[in-house]
Amino acid sequence: MSERNKILAGFALLAVLIIGGLSYILSRPTWTDTELTTLRTLWIGSLPPLAPDPSNQYGDDPRAAEFGKQLFFDTRFSSNGEVACATCHIPEKGFQDGLPLAQGVGTTNRRAMPIAGTAYSPWMFWDGRKDSQWAQALGPLESPVEHGGSRTQYAHLIDENYRSEYEAIFGELPDLSDRTRFPKAAGQVDDPTVRAAWEAMSPADQKTVTQIYVNMGKAIAAYERLIMPGESRFDIYVQAALENDKKTMNSTLTTEELEGLRLFIGEANCTRCHNDPLFTDNSFHNTGVSAVENLPEDTGRTQGAQKVLTDEFNCLSLYSDAEPDQCSELNFMVAEGEELERAFKVPSLRNVTSRAPYMHAGQFTTLEAVLNHYNTAPAAPTGHSELEVLNLSERQIKSIIAFLYTLNSDISAP
Ligand code: HEC
Ligand code: HEC
Repeated sequence: MSERNKILAGFALLAVLIIGGLSYILSRPTWTDTELTTLRTLWIGSLPPLAPDPSNQYGDDPRAAEFGKQLFFDTRFSSNGEVACATCHIPEKGFQDGLPLAQGVGTTNRRAMPIAGTAYSPWMFWDGRKDSQWAQALGPLESPVEHGGSRTQYAHLIDENYRSEYEAIFGELPDLSDRTRFPKAAGQVDDPTVRAAWEAMSPADQKTVTQIYVNMGKAIAAYERLIMPGESRFDIYVQAALENDKKTMNSTLTTEELEGLRLFIGEANCTRCHNDPLFTDNSFHNTGVSAVENLPEDTGRTQGAQKVLTDEFNCLSLYSDAEPDQCSELNFMVAEGEELERAFKVPSLRNVTSRAPYMHAGQFTTLEAVLNHYNTAPAAPTGHSELEVLNLSERQIKSIIAFLYTLNSDISAP
């Protein structure tokens, strides 16, 4: 062999080795079957169709959704004419407000929660003190720090501004014109005058007004049921992985994002609580998030569980459309126990990167701070944190954060 031919043969051998090595790397499966199963459970394509809410017979009525949307944005339903649901649940901000504590007529003790996908959740609020979206909506409307109004005020507003919309869905609106029977402001609120006015009403008139109030909640819920997260880059990746479409897989997530995903479902075990297509187990956990100075003590699910059991508007209440045996969440809920202490609802992680500050009272301003918290697993102020120290490196933390960005999507809302 001439010198020249030896060199050529050398190059040929090298080329064979490189191509062989590359094709080995490319054909090597990226995920084991078990990992693929986990990825499928997180995929938006695994989200089942939304089941009807048996406690709300108007939940899937498009006219109710249209009416509910109007109510959601109408600031007249407040004590100062300035607060609507959308004041704290701003569509452009992922239906929250970017504040540590929400601001209505006053300041709340907790952070606003995003609404997309919560129709799938059996419990509402950080402590789950409501068991449906319609019952939830009736909380802020009479809260002194949120909308600050009262139910007779709202019933009169419906009468004056939405009579035809209301009647098309719920039937004839009762005659509320007698202001001695139906005062301008009366309801079960903190304000002593407004409460006294309520207590002076006959039980039958109270029920008439409360029924209108309940129907407002049911219409708002019909609107909220349509607010859903869309397909994210992560979902496109998982679909490709399930179809073994390497080309799409390689062009959809970066190496860093993939490392983050691997940690998220593996070593860091985030999927212990952030699982299923909405990245939440819809349950309550104590994760040792610190208490905020100057706020009243927050026991989380301990108080939420007791409140939902006695809630005026729960699934077993007079105003629910469900049969008692359809209220299985409420019938079988865990109502007490040490594990409920300072346990808060697991939030969805879809679109989380645009929702700072984080946690139930906005305790963390950045995702770095959130991840450092998980990494060090500090003791809980009360109760016991379920977290364990992770010992992740700075680089691993960065990759998990990079992965969280792949969960962003458009939010669909009518
Ligand atoms: C002053 C700001 C403010 C207003 C106004 C407000 N909210 Fe909220 N919203 C919050 C806060 C704060 C929370 C969490 C409160 C808690 O856990 O105690 C919340 C929680 C929720 C949740 C629970 C989501 C979940 O995942 O559990 C829903 C749904 C919701 N609000 C819908 C509404 C609707 C509908 C209205 C109007 C009727 C409304 N909100 C008005 C601040 C507000
Ligand atoms: C033991 C259950 C559990 C585990 C494990 C867990 N989380 Fe959480 N996560 C929660 C709960 C509960 C909250 C809300 C806590 C609060 O507000 O006090 C939360 C909140 C968050 C938030 C803030 C969301 C928001 O809207 O405020 C992020 C981000 C987050 N978790 C990411 C992760 C990551 C990443 C991991 C893995 C390293 C992880 N979580 C592991 C239960 C858990």
